[in-house]
Amino acid sequence: MKSSGNKVRIAVFISGTGTNLKNLINFSKKNNLFKIKLVISNKRNATGLIFAKKNRINTKVYYLKAKLKDERKILNNLKKNKIKIICLAGFMKILSKNFIKKFNGKIINIHPSLLPKYKGLNTHSRVLDNNEKYSGCTVHFVNSKLDSGKIILQKKVKILQNDTSLTLQKRILKQEHKIYPKALRIILS
Ligand code: GRF
Repeated sequence: MKSSGNKVRIAVFISGTGTNLKNLINFSKKNNLFKIKLVISNKRNATGLIFAKKNRINTKVYYLKAKLKDERKILNNLKKNKIKIICLAGFMKILSKNFIKKFNGKIINIHPSLLPKYKGLNTHSRVLDNNEKYSGCTVHFVNSKLDSGKIILQKKVKILQNDTSLTLQKRILKQEHKIYPKALRIILS
């Protein structure tokens, strides 16, 4: 087992509620795999920031309006904190090609659909509009194209007759909380 000083240092990027962040923090406390050292948000009032602070994790907000400038600052911060993996978890900004190239580590993302189907936003309503039988969630590596990098792990979720976007979203989110830590285990092993 790795000693605490050797744990892989992770940064999580969020924009909103941060249930995936919360779940990863709780998982990291029970395991010796990684430590979340930094939480970055593009929104000052992202509720996930509160949970990070409660857990004494450094947080920093970059609005990314001046994208190049802020991305440069983020890269410096990641370097300073010796971050090896970035986990995007409900982060609503697209990182530039330059950022992805310059970051010296792995970047992964969780998306609430069975990629390559339903990239982008409003996945659940599009899935329901198309009368799909299944949806799900995917953890994948991030490349310069939206929701398109190599898939690490997926979980299928059956669509129920009375599903709305909200009920489907909730059921998929539960599975997201299962596969995100598993995906990290895979890439760290
Ligand atoms: C999740 O559904 C994730 O797949 C998507 O954004 C949502 C974030 O939820 N990218 P949370 O902020 O982790 O609760």
